[in-house]
Amino acid sequence: MIADLQSRIQQLSTRFKEQFGSSPVYVVRAPGRVNLIGEHTDYNEGFVFPAAIDREMLIAGTACVGREVEVFSEEYKTLDRFSLDDLHKNPANPWVNYMRGTLSTLQNAGFHLSGFQAVLCGNVPQGAGLSSSAAYEVAVATFANAAFDLRIEPKDIALLAQKAENEFIGVQCGIMDQFISALGQADSALLIDCRSLEHKAVKTNFSKQGLSIVITNSGVSRGLVDSEYNSRRRECDQGTKLLGQLSRRKLNSLRDIDLDEFNDLQGKLPGRIAKRCRHVVSENQRVKEAVRSLESGDVTRFGQLMNESHVSLRDDFEVSCREIDLLVDLTQAYPHVLGARLTGGGFGGCAVALMRESGIADFRTRVISQYETQTGRSAQVYVCQAVDGAKVEQLIPLGF
Ligand code: GLA
Repeated sequence: MIADLQSRIQQLSTRFKEQFGSSPVYVVRAPGRVNLIGEHTDYNEGFVFPAAIDREMLIAGTACVGREVEVFSEEYKTLDRFSLDDLHKNPANPWVNYMRGTLSTLQNAGFHLSGFQAVLCGNVPQGAGLSSSAAYEVAVATFANAAFDLRIEPKDIALLAQKAENEFIGVQCGIMDQFISALGQADSALLIDCRSLEHKAVKTNFSKQGLSIVITNSGVSRGLVDSEYNSRRRECDQGTKLLGQLSRRKLNSLRDIDLDEFNDLQGKLPGRIAKRCRHVVSENQRVKEAVRSLESGDVTRFGQLMNESHVSLRDDFEVSCREIDLLVDLTQAYPHVLGARLTGGGFGGCAVALMRESGIADFRTRVISQYETQTGRSAQVYVCQAVDGAKVEQLIPLGF
């Protein structure tokens, strides 16, 4: 995989040279992510446990004098030109909006940028719940940080990238995706407290135990803007308000209530709101237990908690769909699997499984083919490594 990354970096530098006539000064990488457990808890100030994966957005670029930006997308084979003094969405080239939005957010936060030339290339599947947009935003902020010597800490890169997604793109996402893309650590998942942003890297030790993180893309594309994501957020806020009234204390978020207290009060909530809150409150508890079980080497319990998380997302938070449920059911029934669940925002996208490496070869023929026959969709399988968060990469001279 490292060799693969190096060759992608080389190809991108070559493309930059063909496009702009000289080698790029910087190449940056920002990864996508898979969330192992802790879904829809981040915007409720709760806990999440994602890992950065070896699929990423790469940007090769060089700063220029002036205010003009020229950016070429390898994926779309399109060049976009714009001025840093006129940053608005470009409906003709939607792919460039994440770049424009992140630059606009950086400028609004008081950072001084100049023009630049860049080439982009990403291999995080889009619309699959693996955070291709967060990887893109974090890559832009990491590039600007290096090229204009802005000295922004990784945590602030994540916050600025999230702001770009919230305010420029218009998706009210939480902090998880940008945070893990900026601060992920190799061979580890990150326990993030989404209220304080304190975080702890936990070595998964999966490969030492003959286990792998296997992600399957259901082929059902999800769109957060058009989906019910924002309405789930509103339902959680409503639940917080009602639970605050019922408990007669100030709750800032669903983070402030534990499962025992919630169980006492849930009968007084409207049914749908009770279900949404039950998912969030129980999921926070599952994340903490999952981390404890991993630390004590109990991967069996970790897998069970993944399965329980899926049931909660399916039945209480209602963010799954027929195809993902089928994929998760088939995956869980495969003997080499310790646990499987929907990962990411939901309404399509991917399932993540913890699987014995010895079972991966037959997973495709024994599980994926059944899924494809029953749904008529084609599914992609990615066996992922947990990698470091965003970085300026070394350019190794050609022929070396
Ligand atoms: C999307 C959002 C995240 C998070 C997840 C659900 O990925 O971008 O902030 O809310 O959904 O856990």
